[in-house]
Amino acid sequence: MARKSRPKYTVPSDDVCGLCSCVSMICAMRIFSWGLCLSFLFACSTTKNSFPITEGLTLEEKIGQTCQITLDAVLETDAQGRTTALLKIDTNKLTEALVKYKVGSILNVSWHTLSREQWREIHNVIRSYYTSGRIKVPVLYGIDAIHGVNYTQGATLFPQEIGLAATWNPALVEEFGRITAYETRASGIPWNFSPVLDVGRNPLWSRTFETLGEDPYLVSTMGSAIVKGYQGPNPLTIDSLHVLACMKHFVGYSASLSGRDRTPAWIPEKYMMELYLPPFQKAVESGAQTVMINSGAVNGVPGHINANLIQKTLKDSWGFKGFSVSDWEDFNMLHTVHCVAPDLKTAYEKAFNAGVDMSMVPLSPDYKTYCDLMMELVKEGRVTENRLNDAASRICETKNHVGLYSKVQPSLASYVNFGSVEHKNMSKQAALESITLLKNEGVLPLEKNTNKILLSGPCADNLIFLNGAWTHTWQGVDTSFNTKGCNTIYQSFKNYYGDRLLFSKGVELFKEKELEQSRFYYLEDYIKKLDSVETVVLCLGEMPATEKPGDIRSLTLDSKQQELAKLAYAKKKKVIILLLEGRPRIIRDVVDQAQAIVHCYLPGDYGAEALIELISGAKNFSGKLPYTYPKFDGITEFNDRSRSEDRSNLGDFMAFNPEWRFGFGLHYGTVVYQHLKSKEVIQQNSPWEITVALTNESNREIDEVVQLFVKDDFASMVPAGEQLKGFQKVKIPAGQTKEVR
Ligand code: BGC
Repeated sequence: MARKSRPKYTVPSDDVCGLCSCVSMICAMRIFSWGLCLSFLFACSTTKNSFPITEGLTLEEKIGQTCQITLDAVLETDAQGRTTALLKIDTNKLTEALVKYKVGSILNVSWHTLSREQWREIHNVIRSYYTSGRIKVPVLYGIDAIHGVNYTQGATLFPQEIGLAATWNPALVEEFGRITAYETRASGIPWNFSPVLDVGRNPLWSRTFETLGEDPYLVSTMGSAIVKGYQGPNPLTIDSLHVLACMKHFVGYSASLSGRDRTPAWIPEKYMMELYLPPFQKAVESGAQTVMINSGAVNGVPGHINANLIQKTLKDSWGFKGFSVSDWEDFNMLHTVHCVAPDLKTAYEKAFNAGVDMSMVPLSPDYKTYCDLMMELVKEGRVTENRLNDAASRICETKNHVGLYSKVQPSLASYVNFGSVEHKNMSKQAALESITLLKNEGVLPLEKNTNKILLSGPCADNLIFLNGAWTHTWQGVDTSFNTKGCNTIYQSFKNYYGDRLLFSKGVELFKEKELEQSRFYYLEDYIKKLDSVETVVLCLGEMPATEKPGDIRSLTLDSKQQELAKLAYAKKKKVIILLLEGRPRIIRDVVDQAQAIVHCYLPGDYGAEALIELISGAKNFSGKLPYTYPKFDGITEFNDRSRSEDRSNLGDFMAFNPEWRFGFGLHYGTVVYQHLKSKEVIQQNSPWEITVALTNESNREIDEVVQLFVKDDFASMVPAGEQLKGFQKVKIPAGQTKEVR
């Protein structure tokens, strides 16, 4: 594929930052902080470039490049204004967007998942505007393919990111990235709004399942593996098997104080540097080409006007050469929600000048207002042409890197591995390696010839509980799009245990007034069936949800689900609890009496197949918790908590006391660690070798994750308790010893 080479960024001497625009920025920003103003001045003075790729483009065309609309804005609608099941492009709307307003990017899907044929039709229509020469720059299409290309029918759906993190296997996770990129490209889409690199430090946050957990080292390692999988070996010439990655949401989105989505976070500089920035920096080093900005505010400054972070840190200091895109409607929200701009025009000025290159506007007619107001801003000098050129050229360069300027695009039919058995097996492998055994008093493995089992719980018999949100639809609750041929937990258990298995749902989950609710479901049936079994398997968990609709008020799992366990305990049954949840829900009251507890996270379409192999003992567990599993609401604890938080040596009765520690996970069988060797004195910046011998004392193979934690004895600021600095997943055959370095 012919590609233009990336231009060198030079500094033309006559290209100065417009004085008026800087002065007005300073006045407006004074309300936030002088530090921010100074960093903006710094930013202004360092972004003078030449922009060959945008030469010949008009102002309108450059502005259009910075504008992203949602697919709905150009779809045919019925008399009620609703899109129809066969999402069809309205060519008048599309022509207005692409030809009149020169819109450069489209995202998403309407309310449901599409077949590849439907995708092909949509892309062909959009692309024809470029190939026929009606527009000069090809349109960049982006989508949230966050656990597989979840808006394409028949795609391979993997565990959600939190489960991928629980595998502690970067090579496997890179494979997830490669396959997802392939299937996204097979749907005609070159840009994936993934991975989420927000560090999940507040489990109340509805998007915890989209994160790679609580630890910055784990998130950095796994996140960069996903980026490599998505983009392939050469991020500046991405081939037709790979996609652009989008790191999101830069930065601090996950740390909201209240835990509610898009509410303010307060992050001291130390934590910003130690916890939240490293995964993004690592992803930039791994070549990530695009970034999406945090919708929330950090320390009172909305992400979208934080020039200090976007321009100074990301672009100037880290040398990020790709482009940044706003999150959904976030330019407008500076005015309507954050109240930091008295009108939309000022909002656009602030966001754009802070370094956000593309606005996910994304609705109609808002995008027209956006383009018109941006034109006014440029003409009035409130946005300099230099800044516009910078943004447009970053966007056009990125389009070039992913091959969009080439007139020949691969046919979708050539992607013969789409949804293949090989891909499905990899998804199942990811589920196998993620599902984490938290407790086992000997009831597992549950043999085939066991006495009767009662399977119960709201999450037992529907794929939506395995997949969570961002599955076929945004919230993932519409069951009509469930992947055909994939087993629910009930089906997998039934296939394996046959007539020995009884089923009774016991409780069902639903949403009312935007809040998750539960109610008993033929409880008498459950109680009656309890009498005829020895073992009860409870599938407990959460309704799929994300963003605002996923907000919850308490981490504690609802009492009705816990009641199912209590009823079984009262009848002296052996209880195995399976947790289908994207964040750790507190289950303190039912832990002690359970015989076994298994954390499944949201393991994807093949999660139930993986689960039965683990439960039955055909495969061994190897997943480890990517977060600290809390025991109490109201106390959020982390592995790397500051030393002064944990005063156990002073007999603090409230000392660190989670339900399960970060990194915890059992196997069938035991691994013994011996002979830990390390240098006594470690010199700065010199290699540091540590070895340990692992003996598998069991009679079956074990995959063990060796985790290296370090801590400072003393430091000038209160040091962390323990910080993860390395890990390795190793296979140890039965009865053997392996040395790990
Ligand atoms: C989410 C992003 C997502 C975007 C596009 C937003 O509401 O915060 O994560 O990429 O929508 O769907």
